[in-house]
Amino acid sequence: MLHVAEAYGLPLPRPSMKGRTRNYFQHGANFAVAGSLVLNNSAYKEVTGLDHPAVDHSLGIQVQSFTDLLPIISQRSNVSAVMTSSLFIVGEFGGIDYIGGLVSNKSLEEMKSWVPHVVAAIGSSVHDLINLGATTLVVPGNYAIGCAPWFLTQFQSNNTEDYDHTGCLKSFNEFSAYHNNMLMQELAKQRLLHPNAKIIYADYYGAQLQLFLNAEMLGKPFWLRRVPGKNQ
Ligand SMILES: *[C@@H]1O[C@H](CO)[C@@H](O)[C@H](O)[C@H]1NC(C)=O
Ligand SMILES: *[C@@H]1O[C@H](CO)[C@@H](O)[C@H](O)[C@H]1NC(C)=O
Ligand SMILES: *[C@@H]1O[C@H](CO)[C@@H](O)[C@H](O)[C@H]1NC(C)=O
Ligand SMILES: *[C@@H]1O[C@H](CO)[C@@H](O)[C@H](O)[C@H]1NC(C)=O
Repeated sequence: MLHVAEAYGLPLPRPSMKGRTRNYFQHGANFAVAGSLVLNNSAYKEVTGLDHPAVDHSLGIQVQSFTDLLPIISQRSNVSAVMTSSLFIVGEFGGIDYIGGLVSNKSLEEMKSWVPHVVAAIGSSVHDLINLGATTLVVPGNYAIGCAPWFLTQFQSNNTEDYDHTGCLKSFNEFSAYHNNMLMQELAKQRLLHPNAKIIYADYYGAQLQLFLNAEMLGKPFWLRRVPGKNQ
């Protein structure tokens, strides 16, 4: 979201929780809370059997806090004008729901049964925002988690079959793709329900894979460069 703002030459979106005036929200706001789930804490417990050990800032609550601030954002006048002229970036969402499972030793196979719940909750928030008047929404898919350093370390394997040709963990990337495919189906459903809204899927997964596929050409990141004689 920060990069989107930069690309449009806008100031960086401010944290929503400090906003009390119309002026504060002039250039948008960031409603994200680090580490938040899609499912609320009780739904998470019900779907996964796990307790989420943090204050509930899940997606629905973030949308609610936007709804609560809307009279200030629109200065109690034209909500519709604010909504139709705004770009909503809904995500990336889902990563934390799944990481919670992985650190609790849940299998990817079991976690696949969570995906419809997570995706439905994302769809439901998209629906709520459109009902508030949003007309342009970007909904990103999950990252290629099989390429992320934490996963590569935590789930490293001696079996070369577990890796694809970029060096990413196949089964974890397949899981991300499973979520993303289901999310795209959900968004297609929302487009039919709301033909006047532009619902854009942002393919973070594909964008990331391009970086890994072209790593040599792009220059490896500094943490992969070895300093001669100083290898750890
Ligand atoms: C949690 O999410 C579920 C499923 O979306 C919903 O039915 C329930 O009302 C929510 N609970 C709270 C406390 O928001
Ligand atoms: C509110 O905004 C909408 C959309 O921009 C516009 O069509 C409408 O005329 C505005 N209403 C008022 C009262 O300004
Ligand atoms: C997950 O499995 C690892 C290795 O078997 C173990 O050390 C760890 O305590 C387990 N974590 C949980 C939350 O069960
Ligand atoms: C890989 O093989 C090494 C050497 O045999 C062993 O020490 C290590 O535990 C293995 N790692 C995994 C993830 O199986």
